Amino acid sequence: MNRIDLEGRAVVITGGARGIGYAVAQRALQSGASVALWDVDGERLAHSQRELAALGKVSAVMVELTDEAAVAKATAQTVADHGSIDVLINCAGITGGNGTTWELAPDVWRRVIDVNLIGPYLTCRAIVPQMLKQGYGRIVNIASVAGKEGNPNASHYSASKAGLIGLTKSLGKELATKNILVNAVTPAAAKTEIFDSMSQQHIDYMLSKIPMNRFLLPEEAASLILWLSSEDCAFSTGSVFDLSGGRATY
Ligand SMILES: NC(=O)c1ccc[n+]([C@@H]2O[C@H](COP(=O)([O-])OP(=O)(O)OC[C@H]3O[C@@H](n4cnc5c(N)ncnc54)[C@H](O)[C@@H]3O)[C@@H](O)[C@H]2O)c1
Repeated sequence: MNRIDLEGRAVVITGGARGIGYAVAQRALQSGASVALWDVDGERLAHSQRELAALGKVSAVMVELTDEAAVAKATAQTVADHGSIDVLINCAGITGGNGTTWELAPDVWRRVIDVNLIGPYLTCRAIVPQMLKQGYGRIVNIASVAGKEGNPNASHYSASKAGLIGLTKSLGKELATKNILVNAVTPAAAKTEIFDSMSQQHIDYMLSKIPMNRFLLPEEAASLILWLSSEDCAFSTGSVFDLSGGRATY
């Protein structure tokens, strides 16, 4: 395994209590970073913090990411605990289940947009001023190949991830001269607990679209996400990096 240099960097990982976020936390700690896990699931958060503590400094912040005041509080608490926030990884996300656009209920549609798009906007809004003060930052948004291609029976999810790609491109340009780089990754399906919220038919559909004919592993996602979080990523911003096993065509 290549070594990614994150020595001394403080990394916020939303949705870090489990799944891809947890794999990112593990590799970040192994790469010399300290980590703040931000998640709404308090029990899982405490469990993951205990498990990861052997690898380095890990703090756990219980936060509902759609709540502006809670995000501001989490930011202040993390800066107090870690001294800085050098990296923000927006990994928290939900699927909202599957159904055609006309079947999905408006409150479900809105909630998916709220968590997957407004959440990352709020974390960027809270953390970018800290990065500007430091004169350094890396932001990685976990979008999805669904945001590029539009999965049937997941219009809310696909639209939220397309929105997140748009946010990444705008913010990347706004910060291009500030040594704060903003990029997104677009994974295909990875077998995490997020699968519990999708129909088997939808999971089969996603697998059928992947030329490599297998699911993405969370550790494979972590290696690209953390390279984009490192100083080695120096001339890429407002950009979208593929993690789809050959599915994406642009
Ligand atoms: N697993 C996949 O197939 C896949 C594919 C493409 C993109 N993604 C994206 O990758 C990211 C991580 O996915 P995963 O598979 O690890 O999911 P997961 O369900 O295993 O983990 C998501 C985490 O986000 C947290 N979370 C959800 N809503 C939150 C909120 N409002 N406030 C705070 N925390 C919240 C959950 O508690 C959970 O710990 C998501 O954004 C997902 O959309 C996943």
